[in-house]
Amino acid sequence: MCGIVGYVGRRPGKPIILDGLKRLEYRGYDSAGLALLEPDGINVVRAVGNLDALFLAAGEDSSDACVALGHTRWATHGRPTEENAHPHSDCSGRITIVLNGIVENYKELRERLVAKGHTFGSETDAEVVAHLIEEHADEGLTTAVRAALGELEGHYSFVAMSSDEPDRLVGTRLETPLVVGAGEHEMFFASAIPAFLCHTRRVVVLEDGDVVTLRADGAEYTDVAGNAIVREETEFPGDDDAAEKAGYETFMLKEIHEQPAALRDTLAGRLREDGTVDLSEVEGLGDEFLRRLRRIFIVACGTSFHAGLIVSYAIEQLARVPVQIDVASEFRYRRPVFDPDTLVIGITQSGETADTLAAMRLAREAGSPVLALTNIMGSQATRDADFVLFTRAGLEIGVAATKTHTAQVAALLLLALRLAWARGAMSEAELTALGRELRQVPELAEQLLARPSAIEQIAQRYHDERFFLYLGRGMGYAVCLEGALKLKEISYIPTEAYAAGEMKHGPIALLNSESPVVVVADDGPVFPKLVSNIEEVRARGADVIAVATDDNEVIGELSKDVLWVPKTDHHLAPILTVIPLQLLAYHIAGIKGLNVDQPRNLAKTVTVE
Ligand code: M6R
Repeated sequence: MCGIVGYVGRRPGKPIILDGLKRLEYRGYDSAGLALLEPDGINVVRAVGNLDALFLAAGEDSSDACVALGHTRWATHGRPTEENAHPHSDCSGRITIVLNGIVENYKELRERLVAKGHTFGSETDAEVVAHLIEEHADEGLTTAVRAALGELEGHYSFVAMSSDEPDRLVGTRLETPLVVGAGEHEMFFASAIPAFLCHTRRVVVLEDGDVVTLRADGAEYTDVAGNAIVREETEFPGDDDAAEKAGYETFMLKEIHEQPAALRDTLAGRLREDGTVDLSEVEGLGDEFLRRLRRIFIVACGTSFHAGLIVSYAIEQLARVPVQIDVASEFRYRRPVFDPDTLVIGITQSGETADTLAAMRLAREAGSPVLALTNIMGSQATRDADFVLFTRAGLEIGVAATKTHTAQVAALLLLALRLAWARGAMSEAELTALGRELRQVPELAEQLLARPSAIEQIAQRYHDERFFLYLGRGMGYAVCLEGALKLKEISYIPTEAYAAGEMKHGPIALLNSESPVVVVADDGPVFPKLVSNIEEVRARGADVIAVATDDNEVIGELSKDVLWVPKTDHHLAPILTVIPLQLLAYHIAGIKGLNVDQPRNLAKTVTVE
């Protein structure tokens, strides 16, 4: 939530900051701003709305300012107004900051500062930081930032500039990301690496409490006490084109089509040709632990939760380990019972989701080993876990998660196979056959995306409906939850996803000839039961749009429309069956003229509880 970008160098900073913000816009888009350190002081421009509004407000005028800050906001404290947009300044206008995260004790700090004569121009928690720095301005910006840090509670990263020291930026972080980019005679701060990837690949991932002073020719790293520290610089391996639409109309459509590559990359090197699994990331847990494991807790939110739910079925069925899955915001407050023979898996593509991180920390403190599944190198989840398994989906910019979801499912299926192997829960022949089948899935996803499909016509027919019901069983039910979330978050159509067998206990009352029912019908063992549920739907006059595997004649006859997917083992099918649901949501939202990449009220990373 919220994106920060900072530049110190020898080039004009304005276009660099605006471009960096464009690359971070997925983090928040209700308002934005920039600060340019000009010879006559700091020039702040802010605007409400997405970045187009800021570009307009900033105008075409060039600026020679070589020190600059930018921010794109997702409102937490204070409505999305121009006053509340970042950057925020102190009383004198000599100090300006941008902040990502939450200052929890801002009310008491603000009261204290107001009593001392400070005047505030916004309702935000962030503004207190500028005034706290002002209190210590005589000691120099770096010392003043350190002093402010000592007074703040919460989780945040911020970067400050001062017109009294016009050659530098000072940044710090606590449980919220901030990275440094090192270029030739220029340095960058950013919430995420893509912000500066077109300028440099040399990256330093900061640690909590680091206070970093950037000048054009380098960085000074200190800890919170002011001691010099060393931080390792790494070369970032990813592509810069991730932030481009590459000919697609939207990031979401591009990312849907990137799923075969994301799956291939996530499986690469982890699944041998003979179908055996090589998952070095979890080897530290040890075979002995994997054998004696008595339970797995999975904690996650949103789409990541759905990936966990899908694979919870596979882990239980294949590895015979009981799995309990919970949304992280519930889990952390229900006093779960941990023990050393429980593995906790936190799934978060961004690695920043506050509730998931808190749940992982809780488990770790209670003595259960924690495995993080994330897509982002250096993210907070990688620090809060004992073991880390990465998806390799590449940067996902569309707020509605697509390729990270299917990559999560693939990575977790690898884990299920590894567990089944360690526990002797399946024969070697069964395991390698399933592993070989999993190797085929990226290719099947590619075939699926290349097929002519009726999805756009179906979207055209149903885009005006006021409600969609999704029904499935087993893993198909979990896929329905994900399909229903996709439709509601980008098209704003109310949806409900139900376990098909449960429909007759209530939701059947919703059925009539006006509400389409989407059914996910994989070839799992409960398929015959699902057929009866489809009959129940038809008997109430509702149209059935089914997602089914090729040649399933029964479904073909029972459904008004079928979105066909290639055949695979039913444990792996969710990777394929979710794709038509992503596309259905995408086209319905498109026909309604909605911005699928930036749905209202949402942000890509949810760093608040
Ligand atoms: O970064 P995370 O995977 O932890 O994010 C969790 C949810 O916020 C996220 O999946 C959200 O539900 C997406 N908007 C779904 O498309």
